[in-house]
Amino acid sequence: MIILTNVLIVWWVLACFDLLSVAKGGDLNYGEIYDELIVFTWDHYWDNDEGSWSKNPNCFNDFKYPSVWDQAVIGKAIAESGDTEKLGKVMENLDDYRNSDGWYSSTTAKDNDVYVDDNAQVLWVLLDSYRIRGSSEDLDKAVTLMNLIKSQVVDNGGVRWKINDEYLASISTSELALAAIKLYQVNGDETLLQFAKASIDWLFNNLQDPNDKLIYDGKSASSGDVNKGKLTYSVGTMISTLAYLSSFTKDISWYVKALSLVNASLDKDGAFYTEEGHWNNPIRYSHLLFVGIEDLVTVSNTGSFLQSKMYQGYISELKTQAEYIYHNLEISPNLYADDVKQAKAASDSKTCDGIPDSDLIENASAAQIFYAMSKI
Ligand SMILES: *[C@@H]1O[C@H](CO)[C@@H](O)[C@H](O)[C@H]1NC(C)=O
Ligand SMILES: *[C@@H]1O[C@H](CO)[C@@H](O)[C@H](O)[C@H]1NC(C)=O
Repeated sequence: MIILTNVLIVWWVLACFDLLSVAKGGDLNYGEIYDELIVFTWDHYWDNDEGSWSKNPNCFNDFKYPSVWDQAVIGKAIAESGDTEKLGKVMENLDDYRNSDGWYSSTTAKDNDVYVDDNAQVLWVLLDSYRIRGSSEDLDKAVTLMNLIKSQVVDNGGVRWKINDEYLASISTSELALAAIKLYQVNGDETLLQFAKASIDWLFNNLQDPNDKLIYDGKSASSGDVNKGKLTYSVGTMISTLAYLSSFTKDISWYVKALSLVNASLDKDGAFYTEEGHWNNPIRYSHLLFVGIEDLVTVSNTGSFLQSKMYQGYISELKTQAEYIYHNLEISPNLYADDVKQAKAASDSKTCDGIPDSDLIENASAAQIFYAMSKI
């Protein structure tokens, strides 16, 4: 009888929760929002004459190569559209950054100004492109890049932020882990699975805050000093990696770790929330937390009743955050900015064709958020 009562109470609590999420109003059509944003971003930032993205909107006639970070974020957003023609152009554009070793340099100088985290993101794009276009060249580049990135692993799991630099960043480590597991999914190389596990273990052992369970920014390889800043993107990519690890290995401990990171991230009193209940990270950092939780919900889904109830709680919170971005960070149709006030002020003095000035990476991050939302 006591058990039955408990079950009923749990049921009642969950039912209320569902009612609450319905009461928030009709769902946005994220697939449509994403499609429109991609069309806009292509028209607005792809420079046909240069065969490249431009950091500045085309109508300003002020072409500037974006950084490779921007390239990786918009590259992934374009891959998600499945448009092979656009994707082919984007992959050629990425070659403008590839140096003679096979690293993707920060700029088109193709020099040794190389960040490992950006390269891990480029690797994701290469794999998406391989999956969609079937070009073995993309896979070869991805394997070459993975071998280069492996040379930046120290301390059995920590990954350098910049090549040959001494700062071990959580973001390089978590993004390498995710790149490794994605490549494992394609080529079945077991050593990659071990790599992903070692990197994730290293992050938990070296950079987890014991109090709130979130992940610090990184540490110095020589002094061991920890930078205690916390950003949504390292936690987000860890959640993605853990979701894949639990699905490939059937080892439930990875799954439990993923849940504990999601729970820590969604703590309203925690590091990622404003007093008004919004995520406080710029969307170039927060989009990977959207994707992480989306990966968990879509990849690690056994279809059990309790799991599905828990996932509905996560999805409802993602919707709250995505709706906030959609309704509040759009400065002009299909144009998103983190700092709306600043963007609007700047746009009073600088517009082209009535469209305010803005930065490619923000629209690209917004596109990835809406794409992730369209999957759940
Ligand atoms: C995460 O939170 C859910 C409730 O939303 C709870 O059921 C679950 O046990 C928590 N898991 C971990 C590992 O903290
Ligand atoms: C999107 O582009 C617009 C216009 O160039 C810009 O003002 C805005 O900041 C960009 N938003 C994002 C999220 O990149």
